[in-house]
Amino acid sequence: MKRIEDFTVIGHHWLNYENFLIELEAPEELPDIRAGNFAEVLLKNSPGTFLRRPFSIFEVDKEKNSLTFYIKVIGKGTRYLGKLRKGEKLNIIYPLGNAFSNPYHDKVLMVGGGSGIAPFVLLGRQLREKGIRMTFLFGGREKDNILMTERFEEFGKVFVTTEDGSVGEKGLVTQHSILAKRPLEYGMIYTCGPDPMMKAIAHIAKQHQIPCEVSLENTMACGIGACLCCIVETNTGNKCVCTDGPVFNVNDLTWQT
Ligand SMILES: Cc1cc2nc3c(=O)[nH]c(=O)nc-3n(C[C@H](O)[C@H](O)[C@H](O)COP(=O)(O)OP(=O)(O)OC[C@H]3O[C@@H](n4cnc5c(N)ncnc54)[C@H](O)[C@@H]3O)c2cc1C
Ligand code: FES
Repeated sequence: MKRIEDFTVIGHHWLNYENFLIELEAPEELPDIRAGNFAEVLLKNSPGTFLRRPFSIFEVDKEKNSLTFYIKVIGKGTRYLGKLRKGEKLNIIYPLGNAFSNPYHDKVLMVGGGSGIAPFVLLGRQLREKGIRMTFLFGGREKDNILMTERFEEFGKVFVTTEDGSVGEKGLVTQHSILAKRPLEYGMIYTCGPDPMMKAIAHIAKQHQIPCEVSLENTMACGIGACLCCIVETNTGNKCVCTDGPVFNVNDLTWQT
């Protein structure tokens, strides 16, 4: 059941010059939230940002009754969120969208790039409860783009690639040795990040017949299936990423991988 509520900022922490975590306290007891769900945030006092902005739910703290978002500054709206102070209010619609499914295998791989690592803390927590073994593979242009690896080490091994080789293996995530040499170790791949990265991962998954789910970050407006601006083409027709997704099985998408 969707809710529209005014949350209070209770934490704000810059991780580097363009990424931060923002923690929001809910006015009512939080509902169940599943990995993959997202929220639409209203930027009430930000000039020129009429539409809500979608963000994956990064962390849920039932004791503090709070949600945390991991945000990368890319435009007006995210810059506004970066300037918020403790005590300020934010109106959000949540929990939106579907969720990642449980794997039929005890060993999975999660591949993320940029803010695409955001849904994987909740997914890590969910799968750990089921005894699933997890490996994480994160990519970025350089060292500064690789953040919070320690957060994921509590769930499993973390591997990294950077395009300039400043940390981890040099190259793209798709070139990392765990994918190049032993992809069949994984019974399921989850991925979130830039479209070209997800398409390349989907291609590898299809080649090796490994089930693969992608969390799409299409540009959104309403977030509730009304404006049709977030459409993705699937084998069963056009679907709204905000209501039918954001998580899709790659075999359902008409992507040319
Ligand atoms: C389901 C979902 C979950 C998301 N989760 C996160 C998250 O956890 N953390 C995070 O940092 N971001 C996330 N995003 C992306 C985030 O919504 C956008 O970065 C944000 O809306 C940009 O707002 P802005 O006002 O700062 O930028 P704008 O001023 O609106 O845009 C700046 C530039 O970025 C482009 N742009 C805007 N939105 C997107 C997008 N979705 N994909 C690609 N390009 C875009 C615009 O075309 C423009 O060129 C998510 C998006 C979706 C759909
Ligand atoms: S954002 Fe409006 S239909 Fe998806």
